[in-house]
Amino acid sequence: MIVLGIETSCDETAVAVLDVNGPEDIKIRANIVSSQIKLHAEFGGVVPNLAAREHVKNISHVFETALKTASIVDFSKEIDLIAVTHGPGLGPALLVGIAFAKTIAMTHDKPLIGVDHMRGHVYSNWLPPIGETPSTKSQIPKTNLFPAINLIVSGGHTEMVMMRDYEEFRLIGETMDDAVGEAFDKVARLLGLGYPGGPAISARAEQFSVSLPSGDLHDSLQFPIKFPRPMIHSKDFNFSFSGLKTAALYKIRDLKKEEVEITDDIINEIAHAFQEAAVDVLTQKTIQAAREHGTSSIFLSGGVSANTFLRAELRTATEKEGLVFSCPPLAYTGDNAAMIALAGHFAYQKSDSADWQSVNMQANLGF
Ligand code: KG4
Ligand code: ZN
Repeated sequence: MIVLGIETSCDETAVAVLDVNGPEDIKIRANIVSSQIKLHAEFGGVVPNLAAREHVKNISHVFETALKTASIVDFSKEIDLIAVTHGPGLGPALLVGIAFAKTIAMTHDKPLIGVDHMRGHVYSNWLPPIGETPSTKSQIPKTNLFPAINLIVSGGHTEMVMMRDYEEFRLIGETMDDAVGEAFDKVARLLGLGYPGGPAISARAEQFSVSLPSGDLHDSLQFPIKFPRPMIHSKDFNFSFSGLKTAALYKIRDLKKEEVEITDDIINEIAHAFQEAAVDVLTQKTIQAAREHGTSSIFLSGGVSANTFLRAELRTATEKEGLVFSCPPLAYTGDNAAMIALAGHFAYQKSDSADWQSVNMQANLGF
């Protein structure tokens, strides 16, 4: 089955073409992503109307490039299914992709399926690594996958989702306030590191670790910083990250009050302490959820799953439990349309109708 995927829920205009014949037979024929990050960086975050305007400008070109890359000559004959993100996301941005998808579905008389962006992130775990063409193999193990706990961490969401089989999802925990990616972005802004904050915090935290003298982490430092781990011992699987961001804010304020110069070393240490606290909460709560629900595996996904420290910590903790760990290849951690095409493939197997008229924007869609 040849699936065309379209993603415009936030600040990436993306179109992909996948050849999918089940979870163990996935070939990526094209995966085109046009990022607007530079444009929004100026505003310190994504501006919805600006994002929509850029999607309008870019989508036809991204679509044509994807078809060319995938060597699609006759759209009507070669494409079997169109999948588009219908939520959650920014309303104006989502609408551009949906309108575009509806137009081509109607024109070519093709089935159209609306895809949950967060399910897309989950299925990014099944995408084969780029550069292994014509690979048909994904990295995920074939047996003993389910039940699985999904930790989905992005700029807008932090969710723990139980997966009993393909397309069988149940939300078991989520953030009560800020998403973890949002917290990375806000702390980065406090430290003057720009947008998006995740990669900047991660790089600064790594510099701190590199510059550490051997021995006890905190004793050796001029300003030992340890941030709280909000809700780490709560009995549920919910999260809270706004307090952690506030702790960073107070730390910076106190240092300034004491007339301490905020040097690069101090920025690195705050970045490290923040990342360590956030990753500690995510790791411990996910392992606890896996124990309580007796799952076979843990899957990580979403933009924050690009974080090297989180990937390493959660992998080590998962494997210590004797469970299977998976995270997407780095190229698929951020928003892309390959994950949307794949999620569309799975949703289509279970859907009653895939009519372009039934697809509508659902900006607040949840599991
Ligand atoms: O999934 P995504 O690309 O877009 C949404 O659907 O939100 O996630 C974007 C988020 C941003 O908050 C960004 O700062 C964060 O992912 N992020 C990271 C890293 N790379 C991106 N957070 C921590 N460490 C990273 N290396
Ligand atoms: Zn996303």
